[in-house]
Amino acid sequence: MEISTIMTTAPVIPVLVIDHLEQAEPLAQALVAGGLPILEVTLRTPAGLAAVEAMSRVEGAIVGVGTVLQPAQFAQARDAGAQFAVTPGLTPRLAAAALGSGLALLPGIATPAELIAAQEWGFQHVKFFPAQQAGGIPMLQALAGPFPETRFCPTGGVNAANARDFLSLPNVLCVGGSWVAPKDKLAAGDWAGIEQLARAAAGLR
Ligand code: 3PG
Repeated sequence: MEISTIMTTAPVIPVLVIDHLEQAEPLAQALVAGGLPILEVTLRTPAGLAAVEAMSRVEGAIVGVGTVLQPAQFAQARDAGAQFAVTPGLTPRLAAAALGSGLALLPGIATPAELIAAQEWGFQHVKFFPAQQAGGIPMLQALAGPFPETRFCPTGGVNAANARDFLSLPNVLCVGGSWVAPKDKLAAGDWAGIEQLARAAAGLR
């Protein structure tokens, strides 16, 4: 799957931190039912890879991994059923491993130099991270001049209150954020509440 397709399938990519494997399936079902089929499972908890496997079996879910920091994680994620990967930043080792794995990659950038480096590897679709902290909407507007071909997924500090403003930018295809699967609702197993948050997010554009 092309990263451009992944970025245009839904306006919001939920960033998921899964502490308990048994949360994975009902969480994916709730998000898909709410209209958010693209799911980014962060590899920052021990349950991450197993959660990818469980969520990939949910009808309609397109599952990827996030917080990829080690080259070996691309192949592990692919073998667990992931279709794409997201990194908070890009290094030559990560870029080479991602390209070798066959997974679609959404690499993180926060500065013009990082964006140029990503372009040198062929990446024209990037995650702007951490979006709010690294300059937010004015930064994305400023980047549009020298980088007219680049399309962004701002992530980090994006929430229900500001997502629409990010999505209104011509160089933004989608946003990422954890607000659709908040820790308290996950812990409580409030799948109906998460489905409701997903439905609101899916309707942002
Ligand atoms: C992350 O990696 O945690 C994402 O950028 C999500 O950030 P958020 O919690 O601010 O949405």
